Amino acid sequence: MKYVIGVDLGTSAVKVLLMNQQGQVCGEVSKSYPLIQEKSGYTEQNPEEWVEKTVEALQELTSHFTGSPSEIEGISFSGQMHGLVLLDNHDKVLRNAILWNDTRTTKQCQDIYELVGEERLLSITKNPALEGFTLPKILWVKENEPSIYEQAKMFLLPKDYLRYRLTGQIHSDYSDAAGTLLLNVAEKEWSTEVCQAVGVDIHLCPPLLESHGFVGTITAEISKATGLPEATKVFAGGADNACGAIGSGILAEGKTLCSIGTSGVVLSYEESNSRDFKGKVHYFNHGKEDAFYTMGVTLAAGYSLSWFKDTFAEKENFSEMLQGLADIPIGANGLLFTPYIVGERTPHADALIRGSFIGMDASHKRIDFARAVIEGITFSLNESIEIFRESGKMIDTIISIGGGAKNEAWLQIQADIFNAKIQKLSSEQGPGIGAAMLAAYGCGWYSSLNECSDVFTQVVKTYEPIEENVQKYKELFQLYKMVYSQTKELNSQLNRFRK
Ligand code: XUL
Repeated sequence: MKYVIGVDLGTSAVKVLLMNQQGQVCGEVSKSYPLIQEKSGYTEQNPEEWVEKTVEALQELTSHFTGSPSEIEGISFSGQMHGLVLLDNHDKVLRNAILWNDTRTTKQCQDIYELVGEERLLSITKNPALEGFTLPKILWVKENEPSIYEQAKMFLLPKDYLRYRLTGQIHSDYSDAAGTLLLNVAEKEWSTEVCQAVGVDIHLCPPLLESHGFVGTITAEISKATGLPEATKVFAGGADNACGAIGSGILAEGKTLCSIGTSGVVLSYEESNSRDFKGKVHYFNHGKEDAFYTMGVTLAAGYSLSWFKDTFAEKENFSEMLQGLADIPIGANGLLFTPYIVGERTPHADALIRGSFIGMDASHKRIDFARAVIEGITFSLNESIEIFRESGKMIDTIISIGGGAKNEAWLQIQADIFNAKIQKLSSEQGPGIGAAMLAAYGCGWYSSLNECSDVFTQVVKTYEPIEENVQKYKELFQLYKMVYSQTKELNSQLNRFRK
C-alpha cells in the first residue's frame, strides 16, 4: 500500500494526516501552539513553533505507523492564509509572523487605495484592501519597523516557510499568493504595477508554482528527525481554504462549502475569473489549476466558541460544555450574539467592531449563552450565503467541515439557518485531506484532482432544513443583522479603552 501525508498548518494547531491509496485516514496527530496577542487587534506567532510542532507531529505519526516508511510517497501542505513571515539575506526569520486575524493595518489599507486606486486594485488583485491580507502587513513593518524592513530579502506565507524548512526550497503557490494583494489573480503573476505603486521591491516575492507542483524532497536532517524517508516527495500545497475546498470535493461549478475552523468561511467554486462581486467577497485562485473560488469570511467563528470555552468552561471539553444544546429553543431564550470579538470581514470589513450579547436575562444559563454563540457564528456565515444568493447563485446543498461539523445539533442549526441541505463528510478535516490529495495527485496516483476526490471524499450524512425552524431563524436573522449598525459607533468609542 502507498501513503501520502497532508499537513494542515492552522492557527491553533498543526494537524498531520496519513492517508492511503483508498482515501482512508490511517493516522492523525495534532499539536497546538499559542497566539501572541500583545495588544487588542494584534495576533502573531513564532514561525519556529510551527516547525517544531510539525516535526514532533510527523515523528509521532511515523512512530505509530505499522507499515514500512518507504511506502510513504509524498507530502503536501495546507496553511493558514495571509500571514507575513519576513526573511533576511540568510533566510533567517526577522520577526514574529503577523497573522490573518491581525487588524493593526487599517492605515496601510487606506494608503494602498491612495497609491494604487480602489478600482485598479480590484481589477488586478480581484480583492479590496483588507487588514488581514499580507501587503498591508508588509507596509506596516516598512513604516513601523524600518530597520527590520531594510533587512528583508523575501516574504513567505506560513505553510511556505514550513515547507522551506522541510526542504530548503523557497516557493509559494497561486492559491496562497492570491491572498497577499500582490498577485495579478487572472494572469497568475506578481503584479509589478501594485509593487511599484506601493514601493515594495518585487524581489521580496517568492517564486510561484501550482499547488500540486513538485518542490523536491525533504532534507536529511528532517528525515532523521521525523522518520520519513529522504525520498519523500514534497508538493507545494495551498491556502487552507483552497485545500478545504479540494478536500471537500468543491471542484465544480455549483458546489458550496461551509468551513468552521478558527475563522469561518462560506466558499463557492468559480470556473472563471470574470465574475464581478465588486469586492464584497474574496476572489482567489483555487488549488485546482486555473480554477477560482469566491468566499465570505467570519473572522472569529470557531474562535468565538473556543474563547467562550476558555473563559467560562476552562476545565471542560467542547462536548461537555455543549451538553443540552439541542434542548435550548431556537433563539437561546431571547439571547443574540454577534461574533465580532476580533473585528469582522464579511459583510462588514471593520477592524473596530466588537461582539455583543443582546438580551441577557436573569434566567439565562451558560448553555443559553453557548447556543447564542453558535447561532451568532452561523448567522454571520449566513450573511455570506445571502451575498452569494443575491448574486444569483443557487445554494441548496452545502458541505460542512471543520469544528462546526463535529456537533450534530450545530449541523442541524446550519441546515435551518442556511435553509439548505447540509452534508457531513466521513472526516471533517477538509484542509488536511485537501493537502494529502495534492500529494496524491502530485505523485501521479490519479489523472486529476476530481478523480482523486471520487476516492477521498465521502458524504456520510445529510441534514435537511426543518421548515418551522427555518421560519423562526428568518425572523431572528433580521434582528441579528440590526446589531452591527446599532453597535458600530459604541464599539468605535470603546476602542479608546482597549489595551
Ligand atoms: C481567509 C482567512 C482565514 C485563514 C484561516 O481569508 O483569513 O480563513 O485562512 O486560516
